Amino acid sequence: MFDLHARMSQPLKIGNVEIKSRVFQSPLSGVTDLVFRRLVRRYAPNSMTYTEMVQASSLKHLQDIPQIMEVDADEHPISIQLFDCRPDFLGEAAKLAVAEGSDTIDINMGCPVNKITRKGGGSSLLREPEVAESIVKAVANAVDVPVTVKTRIGWSDDEINILDFARRMQDAGAQMLTLHGRTRKQGYTGTARWDWIRRVKEILDVPVIANGDITSVESAVRCLEETGADGVMCSRGTLGYPFLVGEIDRFLKTGEMPEPVTFVDRLSCAKEHLQALWEYKGERGIQQSRKHMAWYCKGFPGAGALRDELSRIESVDRGCEIIDAAIERLLN
Ligand SMILES: Cc1cc2nc3c(=O)[nH]c(=O)nc-3n(C[C@H](O)[C@H](O)[C@H](O)COP(=O)(O)O)c2cc1C
Repeated sequence: MFDLHARMSQPLKIGNVEIKSRVFQSPLSGVTDLVFRRLVRRYAPNSMTYTEMVQASSLKHLQDIPQIMEVDADEHPISIQLFDCRPDFLGEAAKLAVAEGSDTIDINMGCPVNKITRKGGGSSLLREPEVAESIVKAVANAVDVPVTVKTRIGWSDDEINILDFARRMQDAGAQMLTLHGRTRKQGYTGTARWDWIRRVKEILDVPVIANGDITSVESAVRCLEETGADGVMCSRGTLGYPFLVGEIDRFLKTGEMPEPVTFVDRLSCAKEHLQALWEYKGERGIQQSRKHMAWYCKGFPGAGALRDELSRIESVDRGCEIIDAAIERLLN
């Protein structure tokens, strides 16, 4: 354990960028907007966070950058994640991302969703390694910041090609690889196969970040010990729980186990999240808040009924009222 603390307290070098935390917040479509990232960063100020994935070709005819690409002026370290299958579009999009403040450019080569893979993006690139190489080269040529790749172990159990793929990405110029230990076919089911992450870590020179099933301090430690990875990336474990990245980071650096977050704290955070979504996105923010509210409402008496009520809110005021009443009940 001492070795792990010593290793995890060292800054991580991604090309010429130095990061003071080895615990990352993953990109999550529909979740990791600026509002959510502000909450994560409050507890994990040094951690790398990622925007939701942005389609490079969608930027071509826009005058202004879309809201999902917006980054706070002082928001670092941050990576804007791009997806597409066209190296030229990705190169151009990467320039816009750097102008917005992105410290690295992450390319999504793991998304399993049909709509994305049918057009040659996301995890379908695992089956097109030459295209994936061209993408990494084009982006590395277009910008001065490091290019990183986030991918899966393969398309299916019969097509696990990550060892070859990872080496190719490194050779093409990727400065870090984040590996989600599932196949495309698995989607988000089954367990993440950390053994493949260990194998990839053994053959790459650039940092390897482990992803998949990191839901607690314990799982993060186990994953780091089993894989030897350079860091971990949290994903679904942060839904309704923006404290997770900070908790793991703190434990890895100091050995201090986090104090349990009380349900009142969680609901206060939910309320703040709701208000901030309203301020940032208006009505659309209220709609999007419903799923977040459901994620916050877990594990305490009356959580189910509260989830139900919050899943129907039409206004920020009504949402806050409902949460305040629930906090009252929990305190009494
Ligand atoms: C709702 C949702 C949205 C996601 N959006 C993205 C995304 O935009 N980019 C990406 O690289 N991965 C995305 N992912 C995948 C996660 O970043 C992560 O790789 C995956 O959930 C595995 O980690 P976990 O088992 O800890 O959840 C998404 C996953 C979920 C559940």
